[in-house]
Amino acid sequence: MTEDPGRSRIRIALLGLGRMGRLVERLAPKHEAVVVLRLDGSANADGAGLSREALGTTDVAIDFSTAEAVPGNLERLCEHRVDTVLGTTGWHGGSDALLDLARRSGIGLVHGANFAFGVNALYGIARDAARAMAGVGRRDLAIFESHHRGKRDAPSGTALRLRHEIRGVGWEGPIDVTSQRTGYVPGTHELRFDSEGDTLAIRHTVRSRTVFAEGALAAAHWIRGRPGVYDFGECWEEVAEKETRGGTR
Ligand SMILES: NC(=O)c1ccc[n+]([C@@H]2O[C@H](COP(=O)([O-])OP(=O)(O)OC[C@H]3O[C@@H](n4cnc5c(N)ncnc54)[C@H](OP(=O)(O)O)[C@@H]3O)[C@@H](O)[C@H]2O)c1
Repeated sequence: MTEDPGRSRIRIALLGLGRMGRLVERLAPKHEAVVVLRLDGSANADGAGLSREALGTTDVAIDFSTAEAVPGNLERLCEHRVDTVLGTTGWHGGSDALLDLARRSGIGLVHGANFAFGVNALYGIARDAARAMAGVGRRDLAIFESHHRGKRDAPSGTALRLRHEIRGVGWEGPIDVTSQRTGYVPGTHELRFDSEGDTLAIRHTVRSRTVFAEGALAAAHWIRGRPGVYDFGECWEEVAEKETRGGTR
């Protein structure tokens, strides 16, 4: 692995100290990152914990909080011009206005429902499969997603993104989406193209949440000092390439 001269330690503000936030904090030292601010819900109602003073020398904020907290957090981060990795899901209702705000503020923002590189590859595979299957007789398409009982939003942002990608290549038939919330499953997504004679199934299974945390830390290195709003699904290959070149994996 060659050294990336542009890569130095980043100072992170961590928003959300639940399953994901704690994991990012634990993995940060291994990924040339140091957590300089950590806020949960009680310390940051409506983004109140994100003052200029508290943010200090923060390079990048990583948000794994709740959908309700995202507008307040993002408004403060835009005001104080802090580049941001937004991993929280379920906030897309008001997304256009929020993303416009980020664009106008001049910060760098990378957002994504899923920071596992494999899932982002799956988006492209799903598009190719839908194109191929559209021409081969009647097929029903279903998306199944399964997550632990603590996940609040359903369907998952990833399932919605998969459906969006497949619609984008002209799939006209129904797309049935089924969500399951049970036990400790970190995240499984499956596409099933079903015909009378056969089934094509494509599945991504997360074995450990570390893939999300490592993807978010790689995105933090990538977004630092890079103005603009980026969907992780569109920049993940560049992020992964930078991570491989200069990273710690
Ligand atoms: N993009 C990805 O790859 C990816 C992967 C996994 C999960 N996620 C998403 O990431 C989010 C977090 O997941 P999780 O499993 O870590 O959830 P979690 O365990 O429920 O943790 C949520 C955390 O957010 C905190 N919080 C609430 N309001 C806040 C605010 N205003 N400011 C800062 N923190 C606040 C909570 O604090 P209190 O306990 O004080 O309320 C808690 O620490 C969810 O939306 C999940 O779907 C995304």
